[in-house]
Amino acid sequence: MSKEFHELGISQHILRALGEMGFQQPTEVQAEAIPHVFENKDLIVRSKTGSGKTAVFGVSMLDMLDSQESGPQALVLTPTRELAVQVDSDLAQMSKYLPHQTTAVYGQHSMDMEMAALKKKPAIVTGTPGRVYDHIRRKNLAVGKIRFLVIDEADRMLDMGFIDEVASIIKTLPKKRITLLFSATMPDEVHRIAQEYMVRPEMVAFESDTKTVDTVEQFYYRVEPHEKRYQLNRVLKAEQPASCIVFCNTKHAVDRVSRFLSQKGYAAQALHGDISQNKRMKTINDFKAGGTRILVATDVAARGIHIDELSLVVNYDVPVERDSYVHRIGRTGRTGLDGRAISLVTGEDIMGLYEIEEHIGVLIAEKPLPAESANRSSSKSTGRSRKGNDRSPKGNGRSRPQRTAQTATNGRLKTESQMREEKNRSASGKKTALEREGARKVFVSSTQDGSAHVRQSSPEHQVIDKTGPVSLWHRIRQRLFHASRGFASKR
Ligand SMILES: Nc1ncnc2c1ncn2[C@@H]1O[C@H](COP(=O)(O)OP(=O)(O)OP(=O)(O)O)[C@@H](O)[C@H]1O
Ligand SMILES: [Mg+2]
Repeated sequence: MSKEFHELGISQHILRALGEMGFQQPTEVQAEAIPHVFENKDLIVRSKTGSGKTAVFGVSMLDMLDSQESGPQALVLTPTRELAVQVDSDLAQMSKYLPHQTTAVYGQHSMDMEMAALKKKPAIVTGTPGRVYDHIRRKNLAVGKIRFLVIDEADRMLDMGFIDEVASIIKTLPKKRITLLFSATMPDEVHRIAQEYMVRPEMVAFESDTKTVDTVEQFYYRVEPHEKRYQLNRVLKAEQPASCIVFCNTKHAVDRVSRFLSQKGYAAQALHGDISQNKRMKTINDFKAGGTRILVATDVAARGIHIDELSLVVNYDVPVERDSYVHRIGRTGRTGLDGRAISLVTGEDIMGLYEIEEHIGVLIAEKPLPAESANRSSSKSTGRSRKGNDRSPKGNGRSRPQRTAQTATNGRLKTESQMREEKNRSASGKKTALEREGARKVFVSSTQDGSAHVRQSSPEHQVIDKTGPVSLWHRIRQRLFHASRGFASKR
């Protein structure tokens, strides 16, 4: 049975702010995880993209902050500057009726402005690791009273690129604190590393056959390497997306593709790590505000970034890391909305795509390229439909997400027709058999040696094993399918 926010014991001031944000009911992950934070537990939270993880830590921390205390009590680490700004803005909205201040610190931002903001003793500081550590070293950021450490996109933050900086920051923090880790993807390795920084962490995760969001329609077009830009143009003409992110694997490709699209007359902007911070912020703000229709980006935009009602994600390049695919396409299909994710796949990429399919538990269908004159008439406006019809009465574009049940099929991959049938049934308001069973929650408490101890919340829970013969069958079927169409792989 779905809970209400007030049943979680959240204070009136926060409830009022959430109401104004259009948050009428907690999402599944909020209802499950917030009570654990209230019990002072260290937590690892894995739930799908767009499921509302920010408010899990935002709401619970804000509720638990000491209003008598001055100076930072909570530190939130994010992998990108854009995400730091977004999370800080979310926290500021949630704390609208509280005395606590929040601020964001991030690379290439004005040091003077950040120092002035830190002097005001904000209760929550959100930032990228390099800049946070800089402020700690310079003693601009007092860490003595920090009681909460949040690591958003934790798997990314604990990988080789960030771990040293994150570890340096953690060393400076009080030992007596609550540590919270969040991501839509949480490889086992993260659990092992997390043991070093957490005390008997509990895991909140939701059992699902798929790693991606069920409301996102995923498919790919087969393309030749030299015609990718041309085909992208053709796809965009056919899709007519109201807004779209095109992901490329390199900065160079981002520049080339965005230049090409601009020449073709699209309102397109580039986003990657070599672009100046001012320009990056302007680009993301313009895109969020709807001024730019197409954002061409590296994976800098893949994690955490929320664009209201983004209708299409295009993988111009198939991502190298399998989890990147999950995060990239997770920019669409958020808060219960439908979304489309299209990958342009060359012969070189096809094995990578198979691996992604297997990893995410979804068969990504190949479609014939749209005809030159094709135009998705239904997508002329936004092409979006919402599961349910419970938009906020405030009309601010937010609504309580209608979660598609995250379902288990005892290790079997769902066929496309099964998935279609389920989608149609849930669209028509009828519950599927699996939905009637209910999404089965799994809580896993990690043990000291890093192995996971599974606590079942449902007697019929079964651990899904995707490494068995089903995967093999899936892979063979895919290869036969592609071989029969003469889609050669060089790998
Ligand atoms: N209870 C709620 N009711 C309505 N909208 C919500 C609720 N909780 C969160 N949202 C909205 O849902 C969107 C997605 O939330 P959020 O960014 O926290 O997702 P996430 O789980 O962190 O996703 P990602 O894995 O991509 O980072 C945001 O626009 C947020 O404001
Ligand atoms: Mg997030």
